[in-house]
Amino acid sequence: MKTDSPRPKSDANMKTKTLIINGSPKKNGDTTAMIECLSRHLTGEVRVVSCRDDISPCIDCRFCWTHEGCALQDDMQEIYKYLADCDNVVLASPVWFSSLSGPALNLTSRFQTYFASRRFRNAPVERKPKKGLIILVGGNAGTEIHPLETARMILRTAGCVKEEIASVVSMNTDNLPAKDDSAALEQIRGEAMRLNLPLES
Ligand SMILES: Cc1cc2nc3c(=O)[nH]c(=O)nc-3n(C[C@H](O)[C@H](O)[C@H](O)COP(=O)(O)O)c2cc1C
Repeated sequence: MKTDSPRPKSDANMKTKTLIINGSPKKNGDTTAMIECLSRHLTGEVRVVSCRDDISPCIDCRFCWTHEGCALQDDMQEIYKYLADCDNVVLASPVWFSSLSGPALNLTSRFQTYFASRRFRNAPVERKPKKGLIILVGGNAGTEIHPLETARMILRTAGCVKEEIASVVSMNTDNLPAKDDSAALEQIRGEAMRLNLPLES
């Protein structure tokens, strides 16, 4: 079944930058299917960071309690730069034990530097205000409430405006793979249209 239309042409005047976080350890799983659908409909620049990339979890060394940035020198340093001026952040994860996946939490634990800058240094990191999108996939409906709440908190920490965070779930993947979940894919297309418009417009 073909559910996607081709990627629309990009409008140079409305070019947005979107960071997508893939919290699934699988290359071609349900989370990736949802991300691929979204990416096809985003007209601006898209950067995907995966929990399979070389990014360590936060080690709570507390460097960020007294210094700007993060002491861990790995690929996350590039992501911090991208987060400074991107327009959108998408957090996509499978549900694991009624939570975000462990790898998704490992990666996003590196946002602790943003929390610490505000809480302990009274010097919030300057970032462009962003729109957010949460994408969750799960085998069985009913366990998405808690991870949705956690993902909202993470996206707020990443710089997303509270009222601009939406979510799409595909919570029956044991029976219906996300790539065939036409209702969820339709919602993803709608969310792509929302993310294609910069927050200021
Ligand atoms: C460790 C583990 C825990 C899981 N816990 C849940 C759960 O609490 N609720 C649920 O609906 N699915 C749960 N699942 C199923 C996955 O969320 C589901 O298979 C998902 O589609 C996998 O996405 P992926 O292919 O992108 O990794 C769990 C899977 C694993 C591996």
